[in-house]
Amino acid sequence: MCKDCAASDLSKLEPVFKEFEGDGHALVTILQRAQEIYGYLPADVIYRIAERQGVSPAKALGVATFYSQFRLKPVGKNLILLCKGTACHVNGADSIAAALKDELGIEDGGTTEDGLFSLKEVACLGCCSLSPVMMINETAYGSLTPQKAREIVRKIAAEGTAS
Ligand code: FES
Repeated sequence: MCKDCAASDLSKLEPVFKEFEGDGHALVTILQRAQEIYGYLPADVIYRIAERQGVSPAKALGVATFYSQFRLKPVGKNLILLCKGTACHVNGADSIAAALKDELGIEDGGTTEDGLFSLKEVACLGCCSLSPVMMINETAYGSLTPQKAREIVRKIAAEGTAS
């Protein structure tokens, strides 16, 4: 069985189904819970949720792809959220993005082959005074320069995780 086709442990969903039993409007909430459990939304999980909520797999997948909060692929151990909001944009977020993409060899939404980093460009992270800013897992890194951003991910790569 290929890595991407590996079956998820669907029994982990049962408590969630129990909690929302009979609630036909809970699709988004159940998908959120599933993402908390699995870290992303594997295809077999989406299918099971669709089946249990009485909607088509296409509808569940449509919801999962519509909202940017949902991830359809596993994320790396360190999730980099790079702010592309206005303040960060004005203060050079594009050059930070270019440095990170070059350093990691991935594009926005991508994950490094070793599974260590995922990169996602996002809107304002709410700490504009530190712009340009990125968050890696729970830690915010501000006043970035391209060189500083490279050094941060190199240090994390050497240590394995940000926090
Ligand atoms: S615009 Fe980047 S933190 Fe607000």
